[in-house]
Amino acid sequence: MRGEHVFFHKMEASCVQCHKIKRVGGTAGPELTKLGEGFPRSYILESILFPDAKIAKGFENTTVEMIDGMVHVGFLKKETNTEIDLHTLLNKKLVIEKSMVKARTRLPSSMPPSYRALLTRSDIRDLVEFLSTKK
Ligand code: HEC
Repeated sequence: MRGEHVFFHKMEASCVQCHKIKRVGGTAGPELTKLGEGFPRSYILESILFPDAKIAKGFENTTVEMIDGMVHVGFLKKETNTEIDLHTLLNKKLVIEKSMVKARTRLPSSMPPSYRALLTRSDIRDLVEFLSTKK
C-alpha cells in the first residue's frame, strides 16, 4: 500500500518518528493503530493539512506559569477542578495544583504544519486511505 510507504519511509513525512502504529514508531504524537475506528477520513485529512484545527485529546501543548515563577511546558493529559496533569517534553509526569497556577497558555500543535507543501496530493490521499483502514 502506497500510504504505508509514505507513513513509514518517506523522509519528508517522517510520520513514524512521532506516531506509533502497532509496535513501530515514536510517542511524541498519539498512537494511530486504531485511528480509522474513531475518526472519519475528513478528520484524518484535516489533521494532516491543518494540525491546529483540532488537537487530539491529551496532546494539547500547554504552558503553565506558577505563582512562584516556575514555568512548565507539556501535554495537558487530564484536568480536574483542582489539578492539572501535565506530561513534560522530557516525559516527566507532573500533577499541578491549580491554586498555585498564575497563567496558562495553549501553544500550537507540535505536529509540523507544513505537509501541504512537503507532500504531493497523491501522498496525502494515500496516507488518508492507509490510516482510515487502521482498525
Ligand atoms: C513532530 C512530531 C509529529 C510528526 C512528524 C507528525 N505528527 Fe501527527 N501529530 C503529532 C502530535 C503532537 C499530534 C497531536 C496534536 C494535534 O492533534 O495536532 C498529532 C496528531 C495527528 C493526527 C490526529 C490523531 C488523533 O488521534 O486525533 C493524525 C491523523 C496525524 N497526526 C497524522 C500524521 C501523519 C500522517 C504524519 C506524517 C505525514 C504526521 N502525523 C507527522 C505529532 C507529529
